[in-house]
Amino acid sequence: MTQSFIQIESPNYIRAENLAMPADWESIFGNGNPLALEIGCGIGDFIVKTAADSPGTNYIAIDFYNKGCYKTCRRIDSGGLSNVRVLREEARQFITERIPKGSLSAVFINCPDPWPKKKHRKRRLVSRRFVEFLNGYLAPGADFYFATDFDDYGIDVAGMMSGVEGFANQLAPDLYRHEMEAYHLSKYMRKFMAEGKKIYFVHYRKAGTMHEIKA
Ligand SMILES: C[S@@+](CC[C@H](N)C(=O)[O-])C[C@H]1O[C@@H](n2cnc3c(N)ncnc32)[C@H](O)[C@@H]1O
Repeated sequence: MTQSFIQIESPNYIRAENLAMPADWESIFGNGNPLALEIGCGIGDFIVKTAADSPGTNYIAIDFYNKGCYKTCRRIDSGGLSNVRVLREEARQFITERIPKGSLSAVFINCPDPWPKKKHRKRRLVSRRFVEFLNGYLAPGADFYFATDFDDYGIDVAGMMSGVEGFANQLAPDLYRHEMEAYHLSKYMRKFMAEGKKIYFVHYRKAGTMHEIKA
């Protein structure tokens, strides 16, 4: 059965084809606040709470799931948030085309598809290659957050990040934790926790300080 496509009319929804390459996020948000990206926002639980906590940061939420983008926009609109924009986009293509190099202050990836079968593991979004690609778009001092319920994905990413040059583990001496205070739970995190699963939280920071962005 195919799902019907929902037209999204929200003022906070952006069609990437209407943006420059890279996009001028300062003029889109109407200010030069730090710019953060959530990849795979689902139905928006995480980004709506996170953006409400930090009105001084601009958030881009992307997902290639139409209904997820629709629900995320509904929540942003009803919450009256002015610091989130939503796009129905694939992560690698979107970042390459629309994100200025060195501009992101944070990236959040919560419960990405785990591709549990061994032969499908190469389809996983987060790998060393992906992080090295992403690094070019991160500002000095930017945060990289990753969370999954999937044991070997969590352990792999936590271990892999410790070997990526220029990133410092923010959870040391642990490579990952099963709880992270002040980090909002997403729909999938709550679902997996209700099933008795543990979430693997990973938090690394790129070397440097934020003010270098504008230097
Ligand atoms: C398992 S769901 C998790 C949703 C949400 N982050 C949460 O934790 O509740 C993974 C989401 O990532 C999206 N996704 C997966 N790969 C993506 C990619 N390459 N670019 C954009 N979105 C992606 C899927 O469409 C899906 O909505």
